Amino acid sequence: MTNDDLLPTHIAVIMDGNGRWAQARGLDHLEGHRAGADALRRVITECTELNIPYLSAFAFSTENWRRSSREVEGLMRLMVEFAEKEAEELKQNGVRVVPIGDLSGLPRDSAEALRALRQYTGGSERLTLLLAVNYGGRADISRAAAIIARRAAQGELDPNQVDAGVVSQHLYTHPFPDPDLVIRTGGEMRLSNFMLFQAAYAEFISSKVLWPDFRAADLRRALRTYRRRERRFGTRTQTQKEG
Ligand code: FPP
Repeated sequence: MTNDDLLPTHIAVIMDGNGRWAQARGLDHLEGHRAGADALRRVITECTELNIPYLSAFAFSTENWRRSSREVEGLMRLMVEFAEKEAEELKQNGVRVVPIGDLSGLPRDSAEALRALRQYTGGSERLTLLLAVNYGGRADISRAAAIIARRAAQGELDPNQVDAGVVSQHLYTHPFPDPDLVIRTGGEMRLSNFMLFQAAYAEFISSKVLWPDFRAADLRRALRTYRRRERRFGTRTQTQKEG
């Protein structure tokens, strides 16, 4: 079956290329991240217009702590700025922001700004933005395993009943659906530890466009490519079944 008319329910974006974008303009790396936050705003708007209900964005990974303290601090400040400046407009546009990742590992003001943003936009229903901050796919799965082990030890669940569904219920992304489409900008072809469990059957599209340059037209191009793909989830295609 080809999904000619189908739009994804959940798009996940790996926003890569901010550094190269800044370097090409002789700008500071942080200016690239700032332009990246503007690109995210545009993609959020486009998703609301296309009635796509879930968007995930990889804003800061568990590996990003290895960057210079100046860059890390700049990114943390950008989170606070984004949370404070965008809250009103996001809410007005029906966008609910759900941070995913270990907020307890963030500087206190960044964690509080993100929690406040979640609280403030919590009633919105048009688009859910899963904002991954201090997020890693391995950390997500490990944390789920630890919670499940604790619950099993306490007799709250039977270890024999632990399957993919149970693991999924203990991930940061619960109760939201898995991404159907992962878009990575900047030309790389890796997941880089993003939603390793959730993206098992997602279509992956790599775009050469650097994230700060990513526009609505680039998103629509990715959606056309997505529609042309055949999603089989490990089964045989309709043609194979008939043939
Ligand atoms: C990778 O680009 C991008 C990041 C490490 C951070 C992504 C963050 C944003 C787009 C903005 C923050 C979002 C919010 C909500 C405030 P890179 O710097 O590794 O690019 P490069 O590969 O060209 O060096």
